[in-house]
Amino acid sequence: MSQTATIQVLGAIAYGEWKAYEAARRRAEETSDPAERKVWRTIAAEELRHHKGFVRRLEATGGEPERAMARYRASLDHFHGLPEEGDPVARAVCDFLGEGIATDLLTWLRQVMDPETAAFIDTVLEDEVGHEGRAIAELRRLIESEPNGRARSAAGARRMLVRMATSSPGSGPSFVAFLQIGNPLGLLSSLSGGYLRRLRAIGIGPLAPIDELNRLVRRQRAPRAA
Ligand SMILES: [Fe+2]
Ligand SMILES: [Fe+2]
Repeated sequence: MSQTATIQVLGAIAYGEWKAYEAARRRAEETSDPAERKVWRTIAAEELRHHKGFVRRLEATGGEPERAMARYRASLDHFHGLPEEGDPVARAVCDFLGEGIATDLLTWLRQVMDPETAAFIDTVLEDEVGHEGRAIAELRRLIESEPNGRARSAAGARRMLVRMATSSPGSGPSFVAFLQIGNPLGLLSSLSGGYLRRLRAIGIGPLAPIDELNRLVRRQRAPRAA
């Protein structure tokens, strides 16, 4: 396994955990519900622990954390800086799918990393299972209580796919490093399989066949008529 690719991947994950921390902290500040604030504060503290742990693993692997994370900063800042969904159902489906992607990525990473990093990832996964559980419970509650909840969650899931497909500015993040460090097919099938499995779990999959996704991407990129 290439040390350079390992450092790049750890840099991407460490910065992704930082963005997850920022997002959870913002949610805690925004809510007026004390119980919800407590939940988001706990999640924020866990995401910060993940970030710091991956920074330590980066140093132990011989990487320079700031430099390793800098490579992914522009695209992750761009993705997380996009306007949030106004519809609470769509927002909840994005939370759920986002936590799921993190879980799938870390499950794959655990298999290709050294034993010490793998042991740290196990502790991260314990937290992420809890985050995903909270996210799906909230989404199911909204699907059942909001008018057209299922259709709105399906629309939110589609928009999230389009966001991910169109949000890499400039050169975009180097996903190549992920494919270089081991079991690339395992990574791709885990991400796509996990996405579909989660959509089915909430009763809205399969959706967004590729031609529909292409149409949505083209429409988003098309210049607007004056
Ligand atoms: Fe995390
Ligand atoms: Fe998380």
